[in-house]
Amino acid sequence: MGRSGQRASVVGLGTWQLGADWGEVDDKEALSVLEAAAESGVTFFDTADVYGDGRSESTIAAFLSGRPDLHVLVGTKMGRRVEQIPENYVLDNFRAWNDRSRRNLGVDRLDLVQLHCPPTPVYSSGEVFDALDTLVAEERIAAYGVSVETCAEALTAIARPNVASVQIILNPFRMKPLYGVLPAAREAGVGIIARVPLASGLLSGKYTKDTVFAADDHRTYNRHGEAFDQGETFSGVDYAAGVEAAAEFAALAPEGWTPAQLALRWIIEQPGVTTVIPGARTPEQARANAAAAKLPPVPEETFTAIRDLYERRIKDQVEQRW
Ligand SMILES: NC(=O)c1ccc[n+]([C@@H]2O[C@H](COP(=O)([O-])OP(=O)(O)OC[C@H]3O[C@@H](n4cnc5c(N)ncnc54)[C@H](OP(=O)(O)O)[C@@H]3O)[C@@H](O)[C@H]2O)c1
Repeated sequence: MGRSGQRASVVGLGTWQLGADWGEVDDKEALSVLEAAAESGVTFFDTADVYGDGRSESTIAAFLSGRPDLHVLVGTKMGRRVEQIPENYVLDNFRAWNDRSRRNLGVDRLDLVQLHCPPTPVYSSGEVFDALDTLVAEERIAAYGVSVETCAEALTAIARPNVASVQIILNPFRMKPLYGVLPAAREAGVGIIARVPLASGLLSGKYTKDTVFAADDHRTYNRHGEAFDQGETFSGVDYAAGVEAAAEFAALAPEGWTPAQLALRWIIEQPGVTTVIPGARTPEQARANAAAAKLPPVPEETFTAIRDLYERRIKDQVEQRW
């Protein structure tokens, strides 16, 4: 994980699904997702204090406490349980947020804590990064990173000396980070955590225009950014247009690969990516996603076809905004 020297599997696991916002996933199913991922070689779990208001963190703690044989790096996030104003990003709040995550995760020192898509001015504040350095000095956290919405925010964070990781949306429907962010991260030695790799499931090719998601699933209630940044839902791609583009993407999957595995493999192979963190709601999904780590490279002509698909159908929808 970049400068921190921490190690993460190239396919990690996103655990937003184990908290809320994706319809119901019960505790037993949540534990079996974690187990399936770990048994398949995943050694990085991404979570946040806000996922299920701590439920995702506590589920990870419950799982790891029963498996002392596993060495999983856990990246959590902080900052979205309060009003989203820069004034809230201060040392005392950071300490309190860390203390809650330490309790939820059952550890003295958190492996990696990411600012969770804070207001843009936060990235330009020297005091904020000094406070994060203090948390490291106090041994509350081993390393810190940021989870960003835009490429501009990523570049500002990468310029800070002690940022270990940048989490950003990167997938075949979100290519802008390839142009500037990934080269800058490589140069600076900053880890890249690629999130929303399946465009919220779109890139699996399994949805149709008529698919209905649960009422408490953000894919129902945040399609137009009603609750949080629109880019987090289907990568910011219009649903109907996304379904059509996803059908074309699915046809590019090499024999024996699922479209989701093609998306993950495409991400892993981008220079500068440390880990990709697909979210999984079932153990089968977690296993299939982890298997992408062992697939052969994406054929060159498939790379070209994916780029062409993006340029024709997607680019104009997303590049100006994020
Ligand atoms: N602001 C932030 O920092 C932020 C924001 C968003 C996400 N994240 C992190 O990034 C992680 C990943 O992003 P995400 O979960 O939003 O989106 P994602 O990984 O692009 O999509 C997850 C969805 O894809 C489907 N899926 C997963 N594996 C599959 C497979 N093998 N075959 C078919 N379908 C599959 C599932 O949909 P169904 O439920 O329909 O089966 C699943 O809910 C999150 O879990 C979270 O840890 C962070």
